[in-house]
Amino acid sequence: SMQIAGLDIGGTKCAVLMGQIQEDGELRMIRKEIFTTEAAGQSLETIYGILDPWMSTYHPEAIGISCGGPLNSRTGVILNPPNLYGWENVPIVEELQARYGVPARLENDANACAVAEWKFGAAKGAENVIFLTCGTGLGAGIIINGHLISGTSGMAGEVGHIRLSNYGPAGYGKVGSFEGFCSGGGIAQLGRLRYLEGLQQGRKSQRVQDIKDLDSLTAKSIAQAARAGDETARAVLEESAAWMGRGLAILVDLLNPQILVLGSVYARCWDMMFPGIMRELAKEALPQSLADCSIVPAGLGDEIGDYAALSLAIL
Ligand code: BGC
Ligand code: NA
Repeated sequence: SMQIAGLDIGGTKCAVLMGQIQEDGELRMIRKEIFTTEAAGQSLETIYGILDPWMSTYHPEAIGISCGGPLNSRTGVILNPPNLYGWENVPIVEELQARYGVPARLENDANACAVAEWKFGAAKGAENVIFLTCGTGLGAGIIINGHLISGTSGMAGEVGHIRLSNYGPAGYGKVGSFEGFCSGGGIAQLGRLRYLEGLQQGRKSQRVQDIKDLDSLTAKSIAQAARAGDETARAVLEESAAWMGRGLAILVDLLNPQILVLGSVYARCWDMMFPGIMRELAKEALPQSLADCSIVPAGLGDEIGDYAALSLAIL
């Protein structure tokens, strides 16, 4: 069996991980979580407090680090992710390698999740995989002919920035972007917009009775309302799913993937999202390309971030 270490650095929390790949290919792990609300230097001290004893007990062969972008995977530097306050130009790969004397690899969270689904999840054994994470932001990890595509500076797959329409919710600083329509944050914005229109037309719903209820809308609460039969919530999810189909059609036409794996809100609401996605994909993507492509929800569920960080250690 092989020992590996991982860090999954998120906007509020960071998971510190030690993993062991079993003979049968299963990944076992132990983990501790810390808050990342402090500046990088302080968070790193807390991380070292957990890692130091683990490193000298388990002697992992490599460390994987997954973090939201922008970051430079080539130089191993976390640049200035909007969701990570006080983390700016952190040369995390260099620091970890100097401290522990083993190779470290930093990748954007979407890339890392793509590798995790490819090695351990829904895309196991596939050669051409695109994974989309649809949390606070939207990003893609792209594996073509068995290789993770990084681009010149590790920015490949920043599909959240692609504009799909001149109108719509903003994401990645752009109105009508893929992130605006299809991230969790974007779905919440779309919800606010559609419920407000409803109120203006005198339509009330269980979820939104008054304008003051708009602020608390999240992708999660919209999904709950949709499951409970709320018409506006259902329409919001359908609207997002249709744009997802549009966005995916671009990726299908461009890269001819064998499998598209969708995470986060989309994975959790698969039954409500899938038909809308497919309707639009069938209209927009090249049929010859689409025929060879399956579209599935992520297989690793809530553990995807842990798998993501660790799987970078074996890439
Ligand atoms: C970031 C990406 C990230 C995605 C998902 C986007 O806003 O730019 O780097 O992969 O969110 O967290
Ligand atoms: Na990416």
